[in-house]
Amino acid sequence: MEIAPGAFHLHRYLALEAQRALVDQCQALVDGAVPAYVPVVRGGGRMHVRMLCLGRHWNGKTYSYEQTRTDFDGLPAPPLPENLRALANAIAASTGMTLDADLCILNYYDAEGRMGLHQDKDESERSLAAGLPVVSISLGDTAKFLFGGVRRREPVDALLLESGDAFVFGGPSRLRYHGVTRIVPGTAPPGLEMSGRFNLTFRQYDL
Ligand code: SIN
Ligand code: MN
Repeated sequence: MEIAPGAFHLHRYLALEAQRALVDQCQALVDGAVPAYVPVVRGGGRMHVRMLCLGRHWNGKTYSYEQTRTDFDGLPAPPLPENLRALANAIAASTGMTLDADLCILNYYDAEGRMGLHQDKDESERSLAAGLPVVSISLGDTAKFLFGGVRRREPVDALLLESGDAFVFGGPSRLRYHGVTRIVPGTAPPGLEMSGRFNLTFRQYDL
């Protein structure tokens, strides 16, 4: 469903079995040799998620991408797994947009997890100018998601992102403000045997 030009909420895009496999993969990644961590952003605030960047690392101190985690432990960003890249590209294609994802930010939200209203604008100028989409996949507990305009003061829509949902924003919606006000505990499908929420956002840094 297109909620604005270039913005699509694909409710229940992923079947339960596919969600389960992705949850296992996300869990292994966040507990892997290069683990997820809580970023401290410029200004000194701790984010309210555990983050792991794949393909390229997003540095929360400089708001820029790099190959190693110079704001945290100096470890290299793990590669973006091929199956995840292919899934993100297919989701974009299903909305009529083109994406060749080269990075993913994987976030884990516990019951207190949230993310303030922000734009995704640290990818290359060419990627942003082309309107190459961000593809988001939600797994586990439902999130209350805000989606606004390209200026912070514009009104925001609130919608629920449930487990298995995909959300795509590109073209004229690429720089819309968005955020997560809260997680709804206990709403993950029982078959996933998890609490909290994984969210994956795929982007194409450059073209
Ligand atoms: C983000 O904007 O980086 C995350 C969005 C979400 O968790 O749904
Ligand atoms: Mn974002």
